Amino acid sequence: MVGRVLVRGLNVGLVAIGALAGTASVSAAQSTPGTATFSKDVAPIFQSRCQSCHQPNSIAPMSLITYKEARPWARSIKDRVMRRQMPPWHIDKSVGVQHFKNDMSLSDAQIETIVRWVDAGAPEGDPRDLPPPKKLLAENMWQGVTDGFGEPDLVIKSPDYTMPAKHQDVWFRPMSDIPISEPRWVKMVEIRPSNLASRKILHHSIAYLVLNDDPDAVNTGTANGPTGPLTREDLVNRRPQLMEWAIGKGYDLFREGTGKLIVPGEKISWDQHLHAAGEEITGGSEIALWFYPKGQEPKKRSYLIGFTGLRTRGFLDIPPNSISHTEGFTVLKENTLITNFQPHFHLRGKAMRVEAIKPDGSREIISYVGDFNFNWMTNYIYEDDAAPVFPKGTVIQVSAWYDNTKNNPFNPDPDQWVGYGDRTVDEMAHAWMNVVYLTDDEYNALVAERKAKASTSTAERNDQQ
Ligand code: HEC
Repeated sequence: MVGRVLVRGLNVGLVAIGALAGTASVSAAQSTPGTATFSKDVAPIFQSRCQSCHQPNSIAPMSLITYKEARPWARSIKDRVMRRQMPPWHIDKSVGVQHFKNDMSLSDAQIETIVRWVDAGAPEGDPRDLPPPKKLLAENMWQGVTDGFGEPDLVIKSPDYTMPAKHQDVWFRPMSDIPISEPRWVKMVEIRPSNLASRKILHHSIAYLVLNDDPDAVNTGTANGPTGPLTREDLVNRRPQLMEWAIGKGYDLFREGTGKLIVPGEKISWDQHLHAAGEEITGGSEIALWFYPKGQEPKKRSYLIGFTGLRTRGFLDIPPNSISHTEGFTVLKENTLITNFQPHFHLRGKAMRVEAIKPDGSREIISYVGDFNFNWMTNYIYEDDAAPVFPKGTVIQVSAWYDNTKNNPFNPDPDQWVGYGDRTVDEMAHAWMNVVYLTDDEYNALVAERKAKASTSTAERNDQQ
């Protein structure tokens, strides 16, 4: 009680600000004008930006639905939202592409409201101000369903693996059939751990397509593609990825008019990286596929590329107690449209920047994540009009930074040297990006269309002035 009174006293200074901003509420009995309260100001933000994960049936450690549940976390909430660690959207807001299809970040004003609420002692306010409650998830939902894309058309589950409480990392690589009877184009894919418990053991899961004589599905448009005509071997060894998922990622949504073609007889070959969680857990992964309706099949394939952040494949040298940096270069052999960015590291990952060096020598930063968090391989999906497009001959430069000091909370041992490898205690760096290759005509048309749009919007702006 004493705390409340004290807090009220502190709030007096805010009255003027609230009144100026037009947010003052005189009706709410417990709410001083200008004070942000849980019921009135914060609950709506939690509903729209936090509760899909922070509720009893989802992945976060605590629920943020009621005042009682949220109040003990106030300090931690302030810290996470101010550092833009929560919601898990870590892309730098000052450089690179800024328009995304799946942006879950808070606006500056929302952060300010939450901070003001915590600084005022996190008051509840009048429960009558609460927004109507949001429907709870019945179970561990697909992110795609939560985001309004409807139920998937097909879900394929890998066999389960039982990971002992203590064990070395395991790579579990079973196969699954794809139960379709005719070719289908995939417009969206999502992988998730097959149960909530297995979220603790699954670091990544890749669904490779085992091809049924489909050379078009093999990516040949980067420097890393095959150099000669495709052989049977290429079809087996350079299997295209239907999707790469790692801890914290959502779905891949392909650009309208593009997608992945799957044909009957193909299989999924899983590559699942499991680590022990201190308790025995049984689980695996499952992949959801959303198809294009029949008759609306797209014309173009989308290819998934792991652009490397290393100069030499498979080589990394991270000294103990150091911050280090590597960079990797990939030449685009085709005109290329990039539709998303997902940084991938292990425990020492710190930051990743993707930049294009164009044939005329000019540079363009595509995306930068400066505060990478091992728990969140967030997938940043570009808006159609913002998806960057480059002519063939462009070099994609991925710069990667590693924090092998004690300041990195994920670092299991800063006194260890770290090299390249698949275990989470080893390190790697790549930028997973879905790309679409364009013919010269398509490329020129898209560039012209973008120019036209840019000049219309400038003209509109000028008209409004
Ligand atoms: C996409 C799912 C997701 C969303 C959206 C999300 N969180 Fe989280 N949150 C998590 C998970 C999972 C964890 C635990 C892992 C971690 O700490 O990153 C977490 C951790 C946290 C923690 C740290 C808890 C601790 O143990 O100290 C805070 C505080 C938090 N979230 C607040 C928020 C707030 C506030 C929002 C909305 C503004 C939000 N989160 C949105 C999934 C989410």
